[in-house]
Amino acid sequence: RSLGWMSDTATPLLERAAAAPPTIILDCDPGHDDAIAIVVAARHTNLLGIATVAGNAPLDRTTRNAIIVRDMLGIDVPVHSGAERPLVAEPKHAGHIHGESGLDGADLPEPSGPADGIDAVGYIIETCRSTEGVWLVPVGPLTNIALALRSAPDLARRVAGISLMGGGSFGNRTAVAEFNIWADPEAAAAVFAYGGPLVMSGLDLTHQFQATPERIESIRVLPGRLAATFADLFVFFSRTYVGRHDSLRGAPVHDPCAVLALSHPRLFGLREAHVTVETAGVHTRGMTVIDNRRLLERSAPNCTITESVDADAGFEIITESIAHFSR
Ligand code: RIB
Ligand code: CA
Repeated sequence: RSLGWMSDTATPLLERAAAAPPTIILDCDPGHDDAIAIVVAARHTNLLGIATVAGNAPLDRTTRNAIIVRDMLGIDVPVHSGAERPLVAEPKHAGHIHGESGLDGADLPEPSGPADGIDAVGYIIETCRSTEGVWLVPVGPLTNIALALRSAPDLARRVAGISLMGGGSFGNRTAVAEFNIWADPEAAAAVFAYGGPLVMSGLDLTHQFQATPERIESIRVLPGRLAATFADLFVFFSRTYVGRHDSLRGAPVHDPCAVLALSHPRLFGLREAHVTVETAGVHTRGMTVIDNRRLLERSAPNCTITESVDADAGFEIITESIAHFSR
């Protein structure tokens, strides 16, 4: 696969990740696409734990939703709640996309109980210090990850890497800023500067990965209550997205891409580039500034960018993952 004019060091990194199921901590703000990321992670990774962060909805909601999804899958994975607000920015949510609950559109069960812990940052630090080769997979604002790296700088050398959903060459909350980065730019700037292996799945990629009506139907026809619930969630998520865009056939299923980049790297076209985050711009705060220059003196790459995806194959993995847990 062509890596364009950039080095192809990314492939060995991600190939190693997929050699065996990657060991991960999923940090999320469920969120419809976060819920799908939990299903794919449960099916195709060694999912050590789920950390929650405020983002699509307030922390109590994203935590409740993560517990509900964990329960529906019947998996024994702890949920630890984390930051209820960004490092510096004022809290912002996305009720217009995910609904006030953060997971509107389906008849969901009550959570089986409270979170297993209320210190996701401490959980991330302890787990990465006691377990070799952990990938951090943040698919919401990067507050927890930034706090963990600040409290435990040794994590930068201990983790296998960070595979995140966020950023891109265009935005969805402003012309240039994608929600996860925009919600906490200071945290994102710290994560992009952490110095270890970093994989970014941004909007340029995720908009290629849409929950079209045909793909939702492939979930609807599966047996079991879980499949019916996820089909309903997809319908709600796609309705809000298609209604707000002039050229989408379904909601971009953003967050599973950050998991699939580790579990199924051959689905993706990759390239390396230098990416940093704008925190001060009046019009550009929360922008991922990607150095695409062909100038030899360009900044050295710090990030592997997933830039294309075999969407049909990727969605088949989502459908099979839901089928696996749907009884
Ligand atoms: O911009 C898309 C991202 O923001 C996704 O992670 C979605 O869940 C929301 O958090
Ligand atoms: Ca998310």
